[in-house]
Amino acid sequence: METQTGNKPHEEEGKRQRVQANMVNVYIMGKRHVVPEHATIMRAIEYAGHQIIRGAGCREGFCGACGTIYRLPGDYKLHTGLACTTLVKEGMSLTQIPSVPMEKRVYDLEKLRPNVAAIQQVYPVTFRCVACGTCSKTCPQKLPVMDYIQAAMRGDIATVADIAFDCVACGLCALRCPAEIIQHEVGILAKRLTGRYLRKESKELDDRIVEVRSRKFDAEYAELMVMEGAALSKLYYARDMEP
Ligand code: FES
Repeated sequence: METQTGNKPHEEEGKRQRVQANMVNVYIMGKRHVVPEHATIMRAIEYAGHQIIRGAGCREGFCGACGTIYRLPGDYKLHTGLACTTLVKEGMSLTQIPSVPMEKRVYDLEKLRPNVAAIQQVYPVTFRCVACGTCSKTCPQKLPVMDYIQAAMRGDIATVADIAFDCVACGLCALRCPAEIIQHEVGILAKRLTGRYLRKESKELDDRIVEVRSRKFDAEYAELMVMEGAALSKLYYARDMEP
């Protein structure tokens, strides 16, 4: 987490080492703060007076920018979660992990095929998997990450893409993997290969591309671009969704 420390309105009160009703103690990067008990970790960090300038994006559990590790009193386990969707608990000790360092591989999809050779070529580290399941236990999205890594080792690209579909690429699985695999990147490669080679033909998609190219939606785009945030949000949540 990268933050700028601002005002801490509750701090003087908190120093008295007592917890008020509806408040809990949390330890943010080792320092105790008293925060509302129903706050998410992200809200708690801000309530404690930090301005989050890294490690936050969508604030709704989609972008994966806010990976967090924490421990709870009397529990040996190192827990993981997304700061924007995980609620604080009494005695929680936490640190945000804004990114997990990795070498970003550059590859040409036109020179790859959706098979095991692509995995061998781009992410050979995948084959170090010992099937311990740590990645699956770590995933804040509760995805069976190990299953898709095993599918990648078999060259079953469609299954990798299917299981990894909801991955938000927070990188927490890679952080904890004893074999040091970068699981989320393997998932992204499989999704790209699937999009390039394995996707089913879609008449609806073809029709929509024609409509976009004919500038059918330009007027609507222009309206959206000048819309106030609240109105934009209302429109977004009222949109038609496929079942
Ligand atoms: S800020 Fe996007 S997932 Fe938390």
